[in-house]
Amino acid sequence: MTTEANIKDENIVWHQHTVDKVFRAKIKQQRPAVLWFTGLSGAGKSTIAGALENQLAELGYHTYLLDGDNVRHGLCNDLGFSDQDRRENIRRIGELAKLMADAGLIVLSAFISPHRAERQLVRDLLPEGEFLEVYVNASLDVCEQRDPKGLYKKARAGQISNFTGIDSDYEAPLAPEVDLPAGELPIEALVEQCIRVLQQKGIINT
Ligand code: ADX
Repeated sequence: MTTEANIKDENIVWHQHTVDKVFRAKIKQQRPAVLWFTGLSGAGKSTIAGALENQLAELGYHTYLLDGDNVRHGLCNDLGFSDQDRRENIRRIGELAKLMADAGLIVLSAFISPHRAERQLVRDLLPEGEFLEVYVNASLDVCEQRDPKGLYKKARAGQISNFTGIDSDYEAPLAPEVDLPAGELPIEALVEQCIRVLQQKGIINT
């Protein structure tokens, strides 16, 4: 079937530039990676990713943190929280993270990203070993008790719909590279756990 999309595909040719991913990573003296934090709202994704980015930056690594709430103010400010919009949100972030890894960066992303299928889609965009799923594993009870932005309260009161964990699904990772007991341990211990995995996988060597 000839559609506008595949006519476009036929007429757009990938341009291979001389300065490539390997070159850019070599200048930065690091291995690019995407550390994909997923978990419920209030689980601590942004906080842990931010603290980990601090440590990595202190160690001299070139990083970029993509944060759900921030990205939704710009690139994804046309999207809401229906399943379809969340899919599009994650697709865009995945492509963005891929470009940033192509730039040689260690990318940290903090999005609920509730569906396994979309997380798998992002994993498939990247070479083997470059995508690390980090499950910020805190139960709904814990997140609701914390309720840092007062959103669970609003969702329970029916003032927000499609709220993850309340009236919208969250599919926990089945085999994440990092499983953080975020309801039990303090931030420092969770960051330490991430650092250990990054060392074991050879993404950092300090
Ligand atoms: S995702 O599901 O598409 O990955 P994303 O991480 O970008 O979500 O945004 C989640 C943040 O948006 C939450 O931390 C919360 O602050 C806010 N938010 C507003 N409405 C909702 C909702 N219905 N469900 C979940 N989070 C919401």
